[in-house]
Amino acid sequence: MKTENTVWHEQHISKEQRANLKDQKPCLLWYTGLSGSGKSTVANAVDALLFNLGCHSYLLDGDNVRHGLNGDLGFNDDSRIENIRRISEVSKLFLDAGLIVSTAFISPFAQDRASARAKLDAGEFIEVYIDTPISVCEQRDPKGLYKKARAGEIKDFTGIDSSYDTPENPEIHVKTAEQSIQECAEQIVNYLTEQGFIHINSAKNNNKEQG
Ligand code: ADX
Repeated sequence: MKTENTVWHEQHISKEQRANLKDQKPCLLWYTGLSGSGKSTVANAVDALLFNLGCHSYLLDGDNVRHGLNGDLGFNDDSRIENIRRISEVSKLFLDAGLIVSTAFISPFAQDRASARAKLDAGEFIEVYIDTPISVCEQRDPKGLYKKARAGEIKDFTGIDSSYDTPENPEIHVKTAEQSIQECAEQIVNYLTEQGFIHINSAKNNNKEQG
């Protein structure tokens, strides 16, 4: 717990210095959408594109983070709020390290996404709405979880018996049912280029194709 005896210690090397070394502007691509909407798939494709462009990025993925850091959390409202709070704090540290960070979590509550945004500097938080109709997510059902939720074997399942607040004004709106993964990923990387977070510099590109 933070007390009056907990004092912030300034570091010698600033966020700007770290970012300049990497020749990029740190930002947080906050993917949000239903389970099975394609958040992790698109975020991975973007991460690979960024890597091949020579950018320094890192992806925090819901299913993976829930194995470790957030392994103690479930899916009731309080757990989801704490899940997103921890992720937003970790992301802030990664941004401080000069990285382009992606987070792929359902993050169903608008208020929690707003709190994550408020922790960062203006313009750094980029909400990426992975907008896939629940009928498509349910049809894909990559982990068989919708089937279990419909059968009552999983409770508090997002879109079934737990709510999802649709983003009202996302910086990037991606429709995976209408575009290929590659098109979705390019849409996002183009946004980063247009907004000056990264620049396409052939000398910096990593020519090795990443899967
Ligand atoms: S969040 O709501 O707290 O942001 P998060 O993205 O970390 O969720 O985890 C969602 C993933 O956990 C889903 O993609 C799915 O694989 C799995 N999962 C297990 N139980 C549930 C549930 N009740 N609701 C949603 N996802 C669940």
